[in-house]
Amino acid sequence: MTDLATERRARVQAAIVQEFLRKAAERGDPYAKILFIPDDPYPLYEEVRARGKLYKSEAGIWTTASHGVANRVLRDKRFGVRRADGTKAPEFMPFDNSMLGLDPPDHTRLRKLTVPSLNPRRLAHWRPHVERFTDELIDDMLAGRNEVNFMRAFAQQLPLRVIGDLVGIPPHHRRTFFRLSRRMAYLLDGVATVELAGDVQAAIREMTVMFHDIIEEHRADPRDDLISELLPAVDDGRLSMEEMVPLCMFLPLAGTETTVNLIGNALKMLLEHPEQREMLTDDPSLAPAVIRETLRHETPVQQYRRIAHTDIELEGQLITAGGELAICAGGANRDPEVYPDPERFDITRDPGPDNLSFSAGIHFCLGAALARMEAEIALAAITTRLPGIRRVGPVRRRGSFIIRGMLQFPVALR
Ligand code: HEM
Repeated sequence: MTDLATERRARVQAAIVQEFLRKAAERGDPYAKILFIPDDPYPLYEEVRARGKLYKSEAGIWTTASHGVANRVLRDKRFGVRRADGTKAPEFMPFDNSMLGLDPPDHTRLRKLTVPSLNPRRLAHWRPHVERFTDELIDDMLAGRNEVNFMRAFAQQLPLRVIGDLVGIPPHHRRTFFRLSRRMAYLLDGVATVELAGDVQAAIREMTVMFHDIIEEHRADPRDDLISELLPAVDDGRLSMEEMVPLCMFLPLAGTETTVNLIGNALKMLLEHPEQREMLTDDPSLAPAVIRETLRHETPVQQYRRIAHTDIELEGQLITAGGELAICAGGANRDPEVYPDPERFDITRDPGPDNLSFSAGIHFCLGAALARMEAEIALAAITTRLPGIRRVGPVRRRGSFIIRGMLQFPVALR
């Protein structure tokens, strides 16, 4: 089939699915409503829970907003991220070989190779870098206009700089890397138009070429970064080049679009709760509690999916092999069975069981400690150095049912 015919077919199929989902949403199906990106998804997670701990949406997907069920599924080896025969579900992440898109044993092998770059000893190495970047970004903001879009001026910058150094993007590729990362960010938004999907694929192609170049540069001149650490594994056959490039591309995406929004959401919550902001100003050691509560209350990754590899009985229902399950982490984090008065943002609350913002089980986020560290350093520095920071206009949210964050967050610095 020609490219044009394929594109036309994709457009028609997307329109049919969209119309079907719209009707399901109109009939009141809560998961279908979530797919249409409401400004406030939290009441819809309540509706999901009202249908039971596990319910099948008219969208054909099993759905849960129960902390207990989600936690169990994530640790259950009978669920995977691919179908049991190893093929990819079409709407899942298009990074075929990224860790998040693989089941064991390939997943285990890739994860083992990456863990050393993100272990606690390495994190201690990154801390002074994160502190310096944070200070430089605050200096830059103070040297400019008093009113800024916080997302663009700070939140989007810090994680990109950190991950750029960690992965090993050389200075002369940074601008292209930043530009392509922003274009690829739509990948995490789930539902995309055919145009957007085409642009993301073009950005991935460009990024792939760039990473081939960067990897060759590292081969000639090894450095202290992830790419240099992975190269011996390519040479001795533990990692193929077809896996290395998606791995290098996936990390920046996983490490920025999420952390960016954790920083933005944390500042927004603090500005909306001045008494808790004051507590942090008086005692910067409360930064970890601020970040933990932001992750629970307003997690940047609202949902992820699993596929049943075999027939599975769960909560009195039968999920047949191949059935997909949407885990609403944003809802599970506000499950009243686990977190009392879950709608309240309260940095002093008893943390309770781990929230599901970083998932659980074998795909538990590899960058969780790094993300927490970045956000804690950022929030403590902002509260100390910008005591007058305040919101000066309406926020514009990112159009996504997966990533919860802002594109525009106008603040005055003084
Ligand atoms: C606030 C920031 C972050 C959030 C909320 C977040 C969230 C998540 C979630 C929910 C998953 C698992 C999804 C699933 O189970 O299907 C995940 C996986 C992953 N994350 Fe993060 N992440 C964050 C930051 C980072 C950073 C900074 C890095 C890298 C430096 C990173 C690297 C990864 C990797 C490599 C995986 C795949 C792990 C695997 O499949 O075994 N993440 N993240």
